[in-house]
Amino acid sequence: MAKVPEPAVTISRRRTAERTAGLVESVIREMTRLALQHGAINLSQGYPDFPAPREIKEAAKRAIDADINQYAITWGAKSFRDALAREASKTLGWDVNPETEITVCCGATEAMFASFMGVLNPGDEVIIFEPFYENYGPDCALTGAVPRFVRLRPPGWTFTEEDLAAAFTDRTRAIVVNTPNNPTGKVFTREEMDTIARFCRRKDVIAITDEIYEHILYDGHRHIAIASLDGMRERSVTVNGLSKTYSVTGWRVGWAIACPEFTNSIRKVHDFLTVGAAAPLQEAGVTALSLPRSYYEELAADYTERRDLLLSILEDSGFACFKPFGAYYIMADISRFGFPNDVQFVEFLIQEIGVAAVPGSSFYSNPADGAKQVRFAFCKKLETLHEVGRRLKRLRDRLL
Ligand SMILES: Cc1ncc(COP(=O)(O)O)c(C=O)c1O
Repeated sequence: MAKVPEPAVTISRRRTAERTAGLVESVIREMTRLALQHGAINLSQGYPDFPAPREIKEAAKRAIDADINQYAITWGAKSFRDALAREASKTLGWDVNPETEITVCCGATEAMFASFMGVLNPGDEVIIFEPFYENYGPDCALTGAVPRFVRLRPPGWTFTEEDLAAAFTDRTRAIVVNTPNNPTGKVFTREEMDTIARFCRRKDVIAITDEIYEHILYDGHRHIAIASLDGMRERSVTVNGLSKTYSVTGWRVGWAIACPEFTNSIRKVHDFLTVGAAAPLQEAGVTALSLPRSYYEELAADYTERRDLLLSILEDSGFACFKPFGAYYIMADISRFGFPNDVQFVEFLIQEIGVAAVPGSSFYSNPADGAKQVRFAFCKKLETLHEVGRRLKRLRDRLL
């Protein structure tokens, strides 16, 4: 009997979703893999190689022993939301309601994504300062939102009011503000935040702010939360998390603070996406948020020492560095080394010198714009950074 041909539709039903088609694997994670393969010191991905504070590790263990091992309330354990509300109210200057204005998520990453999904519709335009943390592109792509980029110009990574005004159209719904900023280390000034807030109010636009480096600040720079500014409470989503402040990037605990209407919508996305963040680690988060002021002062002082050390190592090695005032990255110009682009330079750096960084192009919508830059993370022990210094001597000796 003749074989009936398979209908062509079988093939087409096996295709994947178009919304993922343009997404490529994170360059940062790719560099981490390459670093492991070549035994390079990994200054690409932003996670510490030193321990988390003992108090919060003990609190996590106690929570597990006390059998806080089942689902927490979807939008966050009550004890953790209460602690978050207490601390966030101080930063934002208004009483954050833990029952209606907080969603605890699996990291700031999920909080950003759930916020995009919860407040934006396909076709809405989102303004993003560039260079930008690479997740915001996929956040837009998966939501169907359209990014519009505003350039931060070195050396100060400043923007002009004209550039910002030009990015707005009648489809603009949101602006993403990441301060202190990854990758540039910029801390948006009060004046800049006032300008952004003024545009938000005038154009009826939401600010989605990523404040994950809130406590990692240098040289007297201060963090301004946009939701603390006049008229911004009702038009902001403030995203933050435990990862960076408490050196627990693997715990995956973050949150979004927003008015009840936005929160209601963000919670729906979060519920169906992940149900909830790890219950015992939220309990440990209560301890984290109760650490004394001295913890944050020490954190900033320790990071200042690491920043200064890596800055001097990179400058001695031939990089032209943009000094960061917040977060834990240094963007550096690689022009002096004469490579055709950042990717080839980083591959050389990993394979021949034994140090991994992130190619600058991964922070720009047009890769050519970052072809002369690379980013180094300095959330590492001083001894790790000293070893980087020894290895980078080889770079100077070979290329300069
Ligand atoms: C700007 C920024 N936002 C968010 C994250 C991720 O935060 P989380 O670990 O809470 O998902 C990172 C991590 O590098 C980051 O740099």
